[in-house]
Formats: sequence, C-alpha cells, structure tokens
Amino acid sequence: MALEPGRAKGLSIGIIMDGNGRWAKKRGLPRTAGHTKGAEVFRDIIRYCNELELASVTFYAFSTENWSRPAEEVNGIMKLFGEYLVMAYDYQKENNRVVFLGDRSVLLPKYQEQMNDIEQKTRGNTGTILNVAVNYGGRQELVRGIRILAQRVLDGQLRPEEIDADAVSGVLYTAGQRDPDFILRPSGEHRLSNFMLWQASYAEFVDMDVLWPDFTRDDLDRAIEEYNTRSRRFGGL
Ligand code: FPP
Repeated sequence: MALEPGRAKGLSIGIIMDGNGRWAKKRGLPRTAGHTKGAEVFRDIIRYCNELELASVTFYAFSTENWSRPAEEVNGIMKLFGEYLVMAYDYQKENNRVVFLGDRSVLLPKYQEQMNDIEQKTRGNTGTILNVAVNYGGRQELVRGIRILAQRVLDGQLRPEEIDADAVSGVLYTAGQRDPDFILRPSGEHRLSNFMLWQASYAEFVDMDVLWPDFTRDDLDRAIEEYNTRSRRFGGL
C-alpha cells in the first residue's frame, strides 16, 4: 500500500540503520556483506525521501563507538562511505543539501576534502536536507557545542544567562534545521544509541522488526503511517 501523496511532505526523520551484521550472519556471509547491502538500501531510501519531499532525513552511518569493531569491519564501512562520497555528487541534481554530522577530523584527509566540497556545492540546494552522521555521537556533539559556547563566554561575546535552548541548538551539527519528528530504528532494537540526543527530545520513536538490508520503500511508508497515528502533545494536553 503506497503512502497517499503529500502524507510525508515536510517531515524530518532520523534513521538508525541497524541489523546489517545479523542480515549477513543469517546468510552465512561476512558482516561487511551486510553493510554493502545496507549501503545500497541507504541510497535507494535517499531517493525515496526526495520523492516524498521530506524536509530532512538523518542517517546514522557510523557512531563514535563503532571504532571498537574489528579493523576489517571498520575499514569495510569506511570504504563504502568513500564510495558514497564519490557518488554523492548525483544528489546535487536531486537538489539535496548534504550535511555531515560528527567529528570528521579523524577521517582520511581525502574524505574530509570531499565532505567539505559536497557540503559547499549543495549548500544552496532547497530540496530534502540529507544529514549523514559519521563518527557521530550525541554526547560528543553536545560536549563540542558546550565548549563553543564556553569559548564565546570567555571571549566576552555571550553572557551565561543568554544561553538558552536555541543557543544550544545553534551550536550542534544540525544548526538551523528543525528537530526530527520521529526516529526510526529497524531490526527490532529499542535504543537511541547516542543518536541525536538533544534533537530527539520530542521525537516519536518508531521501531520496526526488519533488518536494514531488507528495508524497503514500503517499510518507510509503514513507519510514516505509524508516526501519523501518534498524537504529539509536546508536554501539553
Ligand atoms: C549497524 O548494523 C550498522 C552500522 C554500524 C553501519 C551502517 C553502515 C551502512 C549502512 C553502510 C555504509 C554507510 C554509508 C553512509 C554508505 P550492525 O552492524 O550493528 O548490525 P547488527 O546489530 O545486526 O550486528
């Protein structure tokens, strides 16, 4: 059942791509095979998010904690990310503004250049904002933001009492963007795993019992329909 036209227009969604390893294990394949299939799904779901005219979509591609995985797996994910960086130019014609969330300073210098370049080239695009979180952690993002604000106080540009929620939002990687309406986590897990901790304050959480490499456009439709049934009160009545 396809989503009615316009039912998702303007929504912001965060997606925790989970279950790649289990998908591969079920098939007797190395974990990297799951990530390869997951990267294909990632590219197709981006196209679908564009068709749905979402305001933004944020993909959790690599967390600050993922470095603790075996080197072979980390290298495999980074290689896929590098391939995506080359292909990302395709999204220029789809009018995406691409933003990378996370500490890129430890990534390959070549990747950092490509990331900066893609962000520059797509800065003025008015379609769906595509956030890709790489070496990202919600706590690390907040710590970084707090340091930026502290420095402004030290420099005499800001008074402590001027620090409010908008000031904090403004020093996060997602500065200027609206908060996600819902966070989607496939693979049957129910955790936020250090993803968009500040931005997700009032987000709905939608979990789905499908592994990311099996995730389809129909699954995204179902997640949006589920979200649309929720009544959001933002602490009010
Ligand atoms: C979580 O599944 C997934 C990851 C840690 C990596 C996600 C990466 C990709 C989808 C591909 C590369 C990304 C880009 C941007 C091209 P898991 O490995 O934790 O699965 P498991 O819980 O079943 O072990």
